[in-house]
Amino acid sequence: MITSEDLPRRYTTADLGALTRDERSRFAPGGDADPRADITLAWELLYRLEPELYDRLVSAERLHPEVLGWLPRDTGRIVEVGAGAGRLTLELVGRAREVVAIEPARPLRQVLTRKLAAADHGNRARVIPGFFDGLPVASGCADLVVACSALTPAAGHGGEAGLAEMERVCRPGGCVAIIWPNHLGWLAAHGYEYVCFAGPMSAEFASHAEAVELARIFYPRAVEEVRRRGQRCVPYDVLGINPPRDLAFKQVPR
Ligand SMILES: C[S@@+](CC[C@H](N)C(=O)[O-])C[C@H]1O[C@@H](n2cnc3c(N)ncnc32)[C@H](O)[C@@H]1O
Repeated sequence: MITSEDLPRRYTTADLGALTRDERSRFAPGGDADPRADITLAWELLYRLEPELYDRLVSAERLHPEVLGWLPRDTGRIVEVGAGAGRLTLELVGRAREVVAIEPARPLRQVLTRKLAAADHGNRARVIPGFFDGLPVASGCADLVVACSALTPAAGHGGEAGLAEMERVCRPGGCVAIIWPNHLGWLAAHGYEYVCFAGPMSAEFASHAEAVELARIFYPRAVEEVRRRGQRCVPYDVLGINPPRDLAFKQVPR
């Protein structure tokens, strides 16, 4: 039930039925979960109820080219966790013999599968369900284990168990990379190094009308300025978020 424009008020407790039992235990534990009081829960409902809307947003929020340039160009297997609609996955398939894209939200897996079917090297990716805290892949199976805008210290979104799982899955000498990280101190405390790339960055919406429409939902405080500018590209400082220009990484000891 879509009740309002902006994400914090878009869904209600009536929408919690979109979550599976496993998803509920992670994203809506306890009896009082309310997407109007919990923005991370509202995002989880977005992934399941309006995956195409989410895909339109991330299509505008492209990663800094040097973040992509930093990743290995020719590697064996990459495991990506929380692959979503494939913002990063589609960049990875040309760089590895195999990409295992793990994503819990079924509607996002469907969007990603469709996009891979139309992409060069899309057949190198396997899209499978799973959660950070129990990755459905063997220990040491990947040269690179990566998550983009997905892992947080909260248990439902990875936490300590999720970070440990990413390191378990990585082969000795391989790399775990957290792209567009938002809890740098936590990652630094776990031995992660930080890289940030410079330069101006804008979200690149398909049109000015789309910029206004998506700002109304995702960046309501910026909507008047987005409208006033009259442009499809909107600097991240106008939107009020950090640009996707950084990463944290750790080489797993041999
Ligand atoms: C902000 S989206 C980012 C998606 C994609 N990586 C990208 O950059 O566009 C966060 C993603 O993490 C996934 N996610 C949330 N909790 C998760 C968990 N516990 N385990 C694995 N993935 C999770 C969501 O389903 C969603 O696809």
